[in-house]
Amino acid sequence: MKPRPDFKSEIDTPALVIDLDVLEANIARMQSFFDGQTANLRPHFKTHKCPPIARRQLRAGAKGITCAKVGEAEVLVQAGVKDILIANQVVGGLKIRRLARLLRRARVTVAVDEARNVKDLSAAAAAAGAPLGVLVEVDIGMGRCGVKPGKEAVELARCVARCPGLEFRGLQGYEGHLVLQAPGGDKDRLTLEALSLLVKTVGALCRAGIECKEVSGGGTGTYRTSGAHPVMSEIQAGSYATMDARYAKVTPEFGNALFCVVTIVNRPKKNVAIGDAGMKSLTTEFGMPQAWGIRGVKVERLAEEHTLMRVRGEGARLVPGDKILLVPSHGCTTFNLHDRVYGVRDGSVECRWRIAARGRAE
Ligand SMILES: Cc1ncc(COP(=O)(O)O)c(C=O)c1O
Repeated sequence: MKPRPDFKSEIDTPALVIDLDVLEANIARMQSFFDGQTANLRPHFKTHKCPPIARRQLRAGAKGITCAKVGEAEVLVQAGVKDILIANQVVGGLKIRRLARLLRRARVTVAVDEARNVKDLSAAAAAAGAPLGVLVEVDIGMGRCGVKPGKEAVELARCVARCPGLEFRGLQGYEGHLVLQAPGGDKDRLTLEALSLLVKTVGALCRAGIECKEVSGGGTGTYRTSGAHPVMSEIQAGSYATMDARYAKVTPEFGNALFCVVTIVNRPKKNVAIGDAGMKSLTTEFGMPQAWGIRGVKVERLAEEHTLMRVRGEGARLVPGDKILLVPSHGCTTFNLHDRVYGVRDGSVECRWRIAARGRAE
């Protein structure tokens, strides 16, 4: 009998791999949820930063792509994506000029929360001769960006509507303070409370005679409640496609597709193994990466280039040269550390994708 292929032997480490079957199942599962809703899916590109994955999400039925930065939008335009939301404020002359250059090549929308920024965007879009779509961001409890719901949002929307070059398209409200809360308990109630601030603001816009065509927000951890809510027109979920250890308990209906392959480089003690992936390959702001497919391995600490693991049982049988899989605790920031990701299926490497927007935080 031929030995089963082992993709790990084809890959030098540390390296990111994606299980393509799981990725495709996650994309199909999320899309099938939205096929039954009035809201659309606009997947967030900041998770994987990888155009081939964005293309798969679009082919499955996503309305467009969300991204966080102008640098990511540049990569998406280059990859031929035609409908892009930058779900953040684009502030400063250099960035706004780069944004304006994209307007003739794609339908671009940005979030705003400040009148002076609106004027700067307007001047650049008018000079570019192509419209820039605008969503007024409302702070629905996260305490990051956004104006207050109601009157303040209406005033800014009025300012946008009067500005040449800009098209007021609606509102953005992201309940980021709730996405990682475990399901059950008061999560749904709190999400509905946050969304009620958008309902209130849409009502205030309507009374002011300002048409609100789009309301965008939501994430992987709230897609069920937000995606089924009548006020929302699109959901910006990102992590569902590849998942990570952080989201495993929040949305277990999605499988883990993302791994870091690590080589054991040393066994200094009976209960300690050292791997070759440190904080230049994996991030830890949401905790340590988790071992996958092997029992008795616990990552205790990352040094710059080393994984310090406590091992017992099966884990204690590891020897230098063995390769194991770790599930990153936070996929979005881990992708950003790598140039490429390997797609694997049936035990073999099927493709190698450039993480084209890695490092594009500008
Ligand atoms: C504006 C915005 N929308 C949506 C998301 C949702 O991303 P995810 O689905 O990965 O939680 C994020 C995550 O940070 C975000 O900042």
